[in-house]
Amino acid sequence: MTTVSIRNTVKRFGTVEVIHGLSMEIASGEFVVFVGPSGCGKSTLLRMIAGLESFQHGEIAIDGRVVNAVPARDRDIAMVFQDYALYPHMTVEGNMGFGLKMRGIPRPDIDRRVQAAARILQIEHLLARRPRELSGGQRQRVAMGRAIVREPKVFLFDEPLSNLDAKLRVDMRTEIKRLHQHLGATMVYVTHDQVEAMTLADRIVVLHGGRIEQIGTPRELYQAPETRFVAGFIGAPAMNFLPARIAGDHAELPGGFRLPLGRRVVAGAAELGIRPEHLVQLAAGAPGLPSRIEVVEPLGADTLVTARIGDTPVVARLSGDAVVAPGETLVLGLDPARAHLFDAKTGRRL
Ligand SMILES: Nc1ncnc2c1ncn2[C@@H]1O[C@H](COP(=O)(O)OP(=O)(O)O)[C@@H](O)[C@H]1O
Ligand SMILES: [Mg+2]
Repeated sequence: MTTVSIRNTVKRFGTVEVIHGLSMEIASGEFVVFVGPSGCGKSTLLRMIAGLESFQHGEIAIDGRVVNAVPARDRDIAMVFQDYALYPHMTVEGNMGFGLKMRGIPRPDIDRRVQAAARILQIEHLLARRPRELSGGQRQRVAMGRAIVREPKVFLFDEPLSNLDAKLRVDMRTEIKRLHQHLGATMVYVTHDQVEAMTLADRIVVLHGGRIEQIGTPRELYQAPETRFVAGFIGAPAMNFLPARIAGDHAELPGGFRLPLGRRVVAGAAELGIRPEHLVQLAAGAPGLPSRIEVVEPLGADTLVTARIGDTPVVARLSGDAVVAPGETLVLGLDPARAHLFDAKTGRRL
């Protein structure tokens, strides 16, 4: 079983610092997802764990042993990339066993491990094929198979599903989760897709500009985002934000609507966040936030309504049988217990 410790790491490319003193602990057998927008440092951090990228300050330890000076091939880590990186001239079997062969593992052991991995991934019937004879999803399985046969201490994944179409991405996501449950290995997974992060992770690390914005379980990030950035990043459709002025125990919202907060909050300019699924349709004329409907998207079970409260656009997830049409007025109600307040200046949760 394997832990990973990242302690106060700083990474610069030339003079540009991209990881700013980042620390975190990954528990043995944990599935941790690094998520954040493009360029926030996810791949760099993963490559630092893998030993593919050096860094200027701090240390990384695997199972308590500092590996800063240990080359990638000696870290007992397997990495799966977005582009699969398969050898085109080798069969699936050859691709999966190649790393073991290079390490001088005896042939019968290689065969046994390749067969076992192929069975887990359900690609036994593809072992004699070459990569060009495989679909994108099958290639991705082979890339995972190559990682599994190594029996590594840690699996690292860098956006492994980005090249697959939407349906396959969802199927493979389930496969990866199943794989984690089956192997019980420590896994670190990078994605810019918050749905992937939510569905896969034991814990999510939200990165923003080379810093950790928040670490938590998917439920913690959804229910209690620490910052406006996390609030807006986790959840689909994204959380709505309304400009709010806090006065004592209530918030003044656009149009003069006063929302009781049930607690006293330090007064000032804030943003009130409310998720689309926590807005409800009230009867016409009821006390609430009047909005003008712009777009209606029926999804079957739900209906997504894009509307405007004054100048502020909002999305509401109403029930599938809501009667709504563009141009109409929709009175929105919100439960103060479901509202999130953020300081307008700092973006911190209030
Ligand atoms: N080899 C490199 N040389 C210079 N800058 C780099 C290099 N690799 C990444 N960067 C920069 O480091 C930052 C983080 O990049 P990266 O870790 O690839 O982000 P992510 O994977 O989150 O999209 C970006 O600003 C990127 O431009
Ligand atoms: Mg990347």
